[in-house]
Amino acid sequence: MSSTHFEAIKHIINHRRAVFPPSYTGQAIPKELLTELLDCADAAPTHKLTQPWRFVVFREQGLARLADQLAALYKIHTPPEQFLQKKMESTCDKVLQSGAVLAIVVSYSGAVPQWEELAATACAVQNLWLVASAAGIGGYWSSPGTINHIGDFLGLAANQECLGFFYMGYHDEPPRIANRRPLAEKVRWEE
Ligand SMILES: Cc1cc2nc3c(=O)[nH]c(=O)nc-3n(C[C@H](O)[C@H](O)[C@H](O)COP(=O)(O)O)c2cc1C
Repeated sequence: MSSTHFEAIKHIINHRRAVFPPSYTGQAIPKELLTELLDCADAAPTHKLTQPWRFVVFREQGLARLADQLAALYKIHTPPEQFLQKKMESTCDKVLQSGAVLAIVVSYSGAVPQWEELAATACAVQNLWLVASAAGIGGYWSSPGTINHIGDFLGLAANQECLGFFYMGYHDEPPRIANRRPLAEKVRWEE
């Protein structure tokens, strides 16, 4: 790998941020580009090549169906004393502001421990997040409580689990510095 690749990937990694739907411009994301991004997700590593990541892509009219479903699930599964009309509306708005929303699904193969397939699916999401960011598309991984009830809507099999939604959209946010505690807290060197 050339030093240019090294600098480019460092730049992309360090400039990827969680970008939320209110910052999206509403510009459509072409299906061909989404396919390219998903191809990068599909390049993630996996033990025994089980390739456990699955994505359900919502775009165009699919976004309205997802928004309705998430709002309905929030209403059904939120105790009345915690229910907030505003939260239900913002759930819909977030979906409808997006150029696309991906349901992130793991399909457990049984060939390796489940945590390995969770980890591999997260690697796939990170690949997608990075390449989307490099394409000028912001996104974030959302993991609301409703993901525990969305299996039927997504048509999931018994060995599959929804891990959240990846909201995506072109945006006009200025770059932000990552908010992280010092690396030294997280790394121990044995020399
Ligand atoms: C597995 C996972 C689940 C997440 N779930 C949520 C979520 O439900 N709501 C949210 O606002 N952000 C969620 N995030 C995004 C984080 O908030 C975000 O990545 C974090 O604040 C760091 O910001 P950065 O990505 O811009 O560096 C999630 C991220 C991951 C990896």
